Amino acid sequence: MSFEQMWRELATVGRSAKSGGYFRQPFASAERECAVWFEEECARRSLEITRDGNGNVFAWWQPAGTSGRGVLTGSHLDSVLNGGAYDGPLGVVSALAAVDVMQDRGFTPSKPIGIGSFVEEEGSRFGLACLGSRLMTGATSVAAARELKDRDGVNLVDAMSDAGIEPDLGRSDLLDRVECFVELHVEQGRDLIERGVPVGVASAIWPHGRYRFDFTGEANHAGTTRMEDRRDPMLTYAMTALGANETARLSGQRATFGRVDVQPNGTNAVPSRVTAWLDARADSSEQLESMLAEIERLAHERCDRDGTAVQVTAESVSAAVHFDRDLADRIAAREDGDAWPIIATMAGHDAGVLSAAGVPTAMLFVRNPTGVSHSPDEFAEMADCLAGVEALADTLERLSA
Ligand code: HGY
Ligand code: MN
Ligand code: MN
Repeated sequence: MSFEQMWRELATVGRSAKSGGYFRQPFASAERECAVWFEEECARRSLEITRDGNGNVFAWWQPAGTSGRGVLTGSHLDSVLNGGAYDGPLGVVSALAAVDVMQDRGFTPSKPIGIGSFVEEEGSRFGLACLGSRLMTGATSVAAARELKDRDGVNLVDAMSDAGIEPDLGRSDLLDRVECFVELHVEQGRDLIERGVPVGVASAIWPHGRYRFDFTGEANHAGTTRMEDRRDPMLTYAMTALGANETARLSGQRATFGRVDVQPNGTNAVPSRVTAWLDARADSSEQLESMLAEIERLAHERCDRDGTAVQVTAESVSAAVHFDRDLADRIAAREDGDAWPIIATMAGHDAGVLSAAGVPTAMLFVRNPTGVSHSPDEFAEMADCLAGVEALADTLERLSA
């Protein structure tokens, strides 16, 4: 089946008719439909399907005579809430198409080639980004994962069991077959638009983290409580969000409050509690730490004025990733003697987790003409997707020859 056909088949799964965005949360129906579809496509190509107890699936093309460690590609099938079609699935569908391209070219690898589908990359259900690859590599402890709950209070292990997966969390031997990893991904910024090229190669990922701010105050009547008598955590949150934005802008970094939970969430009551999640990213860990310290300082200062309190908890922090430079150079080199640009990204990826675990890792990016991601507007032209598939096939041939 061609890339276009596969893309069309997946396009309707988990898509909201109202917004046009995707809701493919891990271990829930739409994402499971994508997972079944993926295994069917792997079976159709006679790939050897291997699974771990974290929900990750690797499928291997292992022609006679090949054995040992192989070259892994792939990405993830889950989405953020109301996400785009491309973030994740582009890497999985391109991997399947790249295997077809190599087979059509008559290429036979001398080492296995695998396609990976990592679970809960976005952390949209259990809050921890790259949960599948973190568990697989041991970057997240089993004990910590067992504490994770979704917004309805369902824990990870129960969600897996409900989806028909027998949970066996932790470091998995799927990783032992991986010599190197190449993840293809839609670009989530504007670099390739500005350069006027369809494909790029990753150099690095910015350090980033997710921090939960629990603001507490006093619930009270919205009409009868004088403004000066309030202890309103919503006000403290709002001022902290403004401060975070200013701090990030002035230092050239990124700070976003994209999720808020308000208790009791009534129109005519001063809230008792506001929980808000900060996503912070910076070009160095020193910058990330100093930006966070400044945002915390602003929050505490505001608490003193508002009669409220705040507690900050780091839910996940990822160090900077510098991808293997030799691998990037090999991948960037083109048959025509030119080279794809090597660019940094501010987005997190399973590739970053594998790289941090010591696996030689690289990424290919495909141009996104909207420059928008984590939104229904995320896009890639079909011609650029096909250029990505060709670049991935070239890469896999080079690495497995
Ligand atoms: O949030 C991220 O950086 C990624 O898209 N998961
Ligand atoms: Mn994403
Ligand atoms: Mn992604």
